[in-house]
Amino acid sequence: MAGMRDVRNIVILTGAGISAESGIDTFRTAGGLWEKYDPAEVASAEAFARDPGRLLSFYDMRRATVGEKEPNPAHEALGRLDAEWKGELLIVTQNVDNLHELGGANRVLHMHGQHRTAWCTSCDARPHWTGTFADRPPCPACGMRSLRPDVVLFGEMPYHLDRIYPAIRAADLFVSIGTSGAVYPAAGFVRDARELGVRTLELNLEPSDGSHWFDETRLGPASEIVPQWVKEMLG
Ligand code: OAD
Repeated sequence: MAGMRDVRNIVILTGAGISAESGIDTFRTAGGLWEKYDPAEVASAEAFARDPGRLLSFYDMRRATVGEKEPNPAHEALGRLDAEWKGELLIVTQNVDNLHELGGANRVLHMHGQHRTAWCTSCDARPHWTGTFADRPPCPACGMRSLRPDVVLFGEMPYHLDRIYPAIRAADLFVSIGTSGAVYPAAGFVRDARELGVRTLELNLEPSDGSHWFDETRLGPASEIVPQWVKEMLG
């Protein structure tokens, strides 16, 4: 990609596609999670208010499947990039799995939350969590039975936007990996980046909804195209 030599600060947005080859279902592709479940019923703030038990059971099920997976070469390549890249780098993931961390990356923000922690809506504690929620366990900090998954539901504000937007403003390159561009505000980052004159690159299996916003799109499985791109960047 022309101009890569001058890149110093990178923001990378990842979505379900980067974890697909680790065996975690994506949401919107054929056979994806949102074909089997209606997100308004199992993953929205309204659903939680209406029927908390159903939502907690859904996330217990998701945690059980996501919890046993291994990072794939795309996560590992980003781990290598994080370790070796001398400029600023931020991986903003929409994924609730911890495969970026298992792949060796440290500079990671989970903008849709994560499965590794719980959130107590009584005392605001975010304890490390490997258990279930539907059985309403007590919060280890305050004892109240007010724990929920530490994930962002539809209708709730994503996490870390106060760190993400400044990172995009300071970036020379914005890279989007394995996301369909269907959920805002993440889907709008490419437009924000472009308006700021930041170069934009998409790495995805197929063109996303906002593909035309990118300076360059490379299509293929993440396990192949992400390591190739990282190799280019590390020269
Ligand atoms: P989607 O399921 O919407 O999109 C996954 C994208 O990954 C698609 O564009 C696929 O083409 C691509 N893809 C699939 N397999 C791939 C592979 N092996 N290599 C590269 N790309 C591949 O998932 P997201 O865009 O992450 O939010 O979804 C965004 C948000 O919607 C999620 O964080 C979640 C969901 O509802 C919440 O739950 C709040």
